[in-house]
Amino acid sequence: MSSAVSAITELSGLQARQLGKVFSDRGREVVAVDGVSFSVEPRQVCILLGPSGCGKSTVLRMLAGLDMPSSGDVLLGGEQVRGPHRDRGMVFQGYTSFPWLKVRQNVAYGLKINGDVLAMQEGTVDYFLDRVGLTAFAEAYPHELSGGMRQRVALARALANSPKVLLMDEPFGALDAETRWQMQELLLDVIRKERMTVVMVTHDVEEALLLGDQIVFLSRHPGRVRKILHPPFKADGQITTREQLRAHPDYAPMEREILGMMRDEGGH
Ligand SMILES: Nc1ncnc2c1ncn2[C@@H]1O[C@H](COP(=O)(O)OP(=O)(O)O)[C@@H](O)[C@H]1O
Ligand SMILES: [Mg+2]
Repeated sequence: MSSAVSAITELSGLQARQLGKVFSDRGREVVAVDGVSFSVEPRQVCILLGPSGCGKSTVLRMLAGLDMPSSGDVLLGGEQVRGPHRDRGMVFQGYTSFPWLKVRQNVAYGLKINGDVLAMQEGTVDYFLDRVGLTAFAEAYPHELSGGMRQRVALARALANSPKVLLMDEPFGALDAETRWQMQELLLDVIRKERMTVVMVTHDVEEALLLGDQIVFLSRHPGRVRKILHPPFKADGQITTREQLRAHPDYAPMEREILGMMRDEGGH
């Protein structure tokens, strides 16, 4: 690896250091997250997994700089995160496209805010529309699209801003199983080619195992790191179908371990 390349990638490593978050709820203090530490290497996919209410979204929002930690801090490329920034792109569960804008304008939206020149914008938008398979729908409005297609618009918009880190909170949670699988394959393909660092929240064990280089499993009340796992499936690079994933000899034991932890925590 050349030194220029390593200098760029080093900028996208992410560290959560002893993160804590206390909310006050009707005068009562609720410790949502306590002493959460983990590191995400550049270009890794890190999954935050755990039962509902364990603090996954709270941790992700602190990584994004949308919420400030009550204790601890977040470093991106060694620099402390102090607020939202275009170097961290977000994709949420809901359909977050603007209904009055065409697909193309939705994807270009962040670029406009960031003041890119028009010609660059057009090229970037076309490229990412193509990456997510929406070229033919560039002039459509969101209401003309299926749920999966609208999530692809959200993904293309986040990617078009060329973030160092892509942060996603249950981005496929509202999709049916088949569309969800297609989106997971698409995401695998895009992150391989775009060489991004990704942190993704899910409560879907299969999704976590398929996409993750690292899984940070959180226990709840308060949210703490219970275990960090390193599934081998994505790094393998060969697994492109659900059947291949399930047939891998390491799959069943890892799934069993995670489902056991979910059960202990009172999840599903
Ligand atoms: N803005 C808030 N005010 C008060 N409590 C909150 C707030 N956001 C989250 N919480 C609480 O923090 C805990 C973790 O929530 P969350 O991060 O949304 O969990 P998850 O995403 O894992 O389901 C929950 O007990 C939740 O009720
Ligand atoms: Mg959540």
